[in-house]
Amino acid sequence: MPGLVLLGAQWGDEGKGKVTDYLAQKASMVVRYQGGNNAGHTVVVGDNEFKLRLIPSGILYPDTTCIIGNGVVIDPRVLLKELAYLQEKGVDTSHLYISERAHVIMPYHILIDTLEEESKGDAKIGTTKNGIGPCYMDKSARVGIRMIDLLDKEEFAARLQNVLAQKNKLLVKLYDAKPFDFDALYNEYCGYADQLRQYVTDTSLLIDTALKKGDNVVFEGAQGTLLDLDHGTYPYVTSSNPVASSACVGAGIGPVNITNVLGIVKAYTTRVGEGPFPTELTDDIGEHLQKVGCEFGTVTGRSRRCGWIDMVMLKYAIRLSGITGLALMKLDVLDDMETVKICTHYEAEGKRIDAFPTSLKQLAKCQPVYEELPGWQCSTQQARTFDELPINAQNYIKRLEDLTGVTIKIIAVGPKREETIIKEDLF
Ligand code: GDP
Ligand code: IMO
Ligand code: MG
Repeated sequence: MPGLVLLGAQWGDEGKGKVTDYLAQKASMVVRYQGGNNAGHTVVVGDNEFKLRLIPSGILYPDTTCIIGNGVVIDPRVLLKELAYLQEKGVDTSHLYISERAHVIMPYHILIDTLEEESKGDAKIGTTKNGIGPCYMDKSARVGIRMIDLLDKEEFAARLQNVLAQKNKLLVKLYDAKPFDFDALYNEYCGYADQLRQYVTDTSLLIDTALKKGDNVVFEGAQGTLLDLDHGTYPYVTSSNPVASSACVGAGIGPVNITNVLGIVKAYTTRVGEGPFPTELTDDIGEHLQKVGCEFGTVTGRSRRCGWIDMVMLKYAIRLSGITGLALMKLDVLDDMETVKICTHYEAEGKRIDAFPTSLKQLAKCQPVYEELPGWQCSTQQARTFDELPINAQNYIKRLEDLTGVTIKIIAVGPKREETIIKEDLF
């Protein structure tokens, strides 16, 4: 039963979309299990670039079933736009299925996200302002609206009436904002329900059937381990769990179905939004990585902060998800470097730190300690096998494997589908 979870091992934007698309060639199903349209996954095929936010990155293969699992939060307006965008580009979307149990992001979630961020001033999280946190809050508070509720006009009216009364009170009294009109919201969202109805089903059943047949199923994570609500740099995190075990909850399957866990890691590190970043580079090298790596957020267009690769973080991610293999992305971005650095551990108050600290105060005291390796200063973009890589790039990869104890199975040397080296087959 080959269930493979693919997840970000850093702070997101590691290249999950590219690897999912690559693996989808051999998978019969791709399932998104958490997050929402805070994600932006890019797939490049020839001269075509596809930016996906909610739809799994397997959608370009007409024979690969794509599932938005129950753990995802769905903004119907964004999903309908994404469907139209793909259809305009000639992509067949009839193989998409949406879980009945996925929660719906409503306009009050988006407004509350924005108002909360504004009210926090300097303590803001730097969210994508897409209503992700407020939607997951309502799910936990048991006042959320699920896809199945949205499709049932009576049920939707009753739930919306209750929750809107609360939200409007909050908006008016706490934030001095305008309340939402029930009728306008109800009618608008009933329209979306009618357009999405054809895709909505019990997706856990579909996944179970595929796994029982022995099909390859890829579970595509969004965000990254250090943005995990439980294990990330709290409170500078997202409101869901990107770690591998969350795939079971967010798809509706048991853990024995997961046989492989692929951690996606950039050859350096990036972060969008606020929060700690021990190996961040605010100098020319950071600027170089940002420029060469085109490090701008897919969703918000914000510049991504850049720094060296960090073994304390990566080993933490490997532990949390039981990562069995790594995909090393954007190796080509390091091509011009005279030397490349790997943070092997931290030091704080004269002590060596190997385990990623929980306390942000402690983390702030941590100074990264680096190992410096010679760069390769030539292009890697044409390499299609490990042996075709320059020897110094091979040594960099081998050193990362030594330090983590995990095999690097995939190496990406460019954004395009074919700019990929498979060092070890996954299926
Ligand atoms: P995701 O959120 O993890 O799917 O990653 P994003 O798509 O947000 O960000 C990764 C960016 O890097 C995208 O623009 C990709 O097209 C690009 N990319 C992925 N792999 C490579 C690579 O190996 N080299 C280069 N230069 N770009 C890459
Ligand atoms: P993909 O799937 C990078 C970050 C935001 C912010 C924090 C909380 O493309 O890797 P949220 O809107 O989720 O409440 O914001 O999380 N963030 C991401 N950073 N990649 C993402 O997704 C992200 N999704 C959320 O910038 O710091
Ligand atoms: Mg992204």
